[in-house]
Amino acid sequence: MQDAAVMDQHYELQQTQRLSVIVGAGVEARLAAVVEGLSPDGVVIIHDAALCSQAQRIGQLIGAKTLLAVPCDAQAKRLNVVERLAEELHAANTTRATVMVAIGGGTLTDLAGFVAAIYLRGIAFVSCPTTTLSMCDAALGGKNGVDLCGLKNRLGTIRQPNAIVMDTDWLQSLPDEMFREGLVEVIKKAAVLDADRFAKLEQLAPALLTRDADATMQTVAMAVDMKMTVVVADEHEGDKRRALNAGHTIGHAIESLANGSLRHGHAVAMGMIAECRAAKVDTAITQRVTDLLHAIGVDTDTPAHLRNPAKLWEIARHDKKAVRGHVPMYVPMMLGAGAIVDLTEESLARAMS
Ligand SMILES: NC(=O)c1ccc[n+]([C@@H]2O[C@H](COP(=O)([O-])OP(=O)(O)OC[C@H]3O[C@@H](n4cnc5c(N)ncnc54)[C@H](O)[C@@H]3O)[C@@H](O)[C@H]2O)c1
Ligand SMILES: [Zn+2]
Repeated sequence: MQDAAVMDQHYELQQTQRLSVIVGAGVEARLAAVVEGLSPDGVVIIHDAALCSQAQRIGQLIGAKTLLAVPCDAQAKRLNVVERLAEELHAANTTRATVMVAIGGGTLTDLAGFVAAIYLRGIAFVSCPTTTLSMCDAALGGKNGVDLCGLKNRLGTIRQPNAIVMDTDWLQSLPDEMFREGLVEVIKKAAVLDADRFAKLEQLAPALLTRDADATMQTVAMAVDMKMTVVVADEHEGDKRRALNAGHTIGHAIESLANGSLRHGHAVAMGMIAECRAAKVDTAITQRVTDLLHAIGVDTDTPAHLRNPAKLWEIARHDKKAVRGHVPMYVPMMLGAGAIVDLTEESLARAMS
C-alpha cells in the first residue's frame, strides 16, 4: 500500500529505462531496496564531507564498503577532483556493475553524477540530494558537470540517474537561509507552469516558514513533479526547459555581480521580480509573486549596491542563453503560464530604477 506521506513516482524517459523518484520523511529506509533492485556488484558512496555521519549510517544500511568524502566548497566541481575520485574508484575495484550512491547538495550531486556518467563510460547512479535546492532543482533533470576556467558547469553531460531518493528528514540540519533558497525554485516553477500549485504554495507558506515537515514534503513533491514533467517532455534540453530559467536571466547577473555574497536562490528571487518589472508583467501578478516570496522569508529587493543596470546588462548579454544579441527571459505573463520576452538595456534599467 502506498504511504500517503510519501511520493513514489516513476517517470518514463528515453535515456534511462525508468526513473524512480521517492520523496518523504524517513524514506532513507527504502534506499537498500532501491540499490538492491539495481543488482549491484558492490556499492560505493560519494558524499559531502560535511555529512560524514549520515553517509556512514546509510553506508551500513546499504552495505557500501567504499565511502569517498568530498569537501563541497567552491573548489569541489573541478576536473582535478573528478580525477581523484576516478582514481579512488579504480583503487576500490569498481566495475561496470557497481552502483554509485551520491549524498549531498547540488555541488556533490553535479560532481558525482558526472563521475558516474564517465567512469567506465557510465555506472549506475542513485542520487540522494540533501538540500532544498538540490531536491527541488539540481538533482532533477540529469544535468551534471564541473566548472572550467572559472566558468560554471562548462564540462558535463545530461544523463538521468537510475533513482533519486529524497528523505526530507535530511533537511533538518540545513540553516534557514539555505532551506528557504531552494523553495524559491519551486515558486519560480509554479509561477510560470502551474497556477493551482502557486495557490497551494500560498496556503503552505506560513507552515514552510516554520519548516513544518508535511508542508516541506508537499512542496518538494510539487517541485519534483513540475520539473520532471518538463524534463520528460524535453530530455535533451530543447525549448521546453526554458520555463525552468524563469528569474535566472537577471538573477544570474545579480548573483555574479554579488561575487559570492548572495546565495543563488536569493538572487533568483530578486531576478524574478526584476524580470516581471522589465517585461511589464501585470502588477497584480508581480505582487502575488513578491508576497509569496516574502511569506516564506525571502527578500525580493535587489540591494542598492547591486542595482547597477550597466554592469548587469554587460553580464546578461554575455550569458550562455543569449543568442545573436537577444537576451531571453521567461516571465509569468499570466500566473501559471510563461512567455519569452527579450530583455533590453532599457527594460533592465527600468526594472532596477
Ligand atoms: N544540475 C542542475 O540542473 C543544477 C541546477 C541548479 C543548481 N545546480 C548546482 O547546484 C550547486 C548548488 O547546490 P546547493 O545549493 O545544494 O549547495 P551545496 O551542495 O554547495 O551545499 C551548500 C552547503 O550546504 C552544506 N549541506 C549540504 N547538505 C546539508 C545538510 N543536509 N545539512 C547541513 N548542511 C548541508 C554543504 O556542505 C555546503 O556547505 C551549484 O554547484 C549549482 O551549479 C545544478
Ligand atoms: Zn536556479
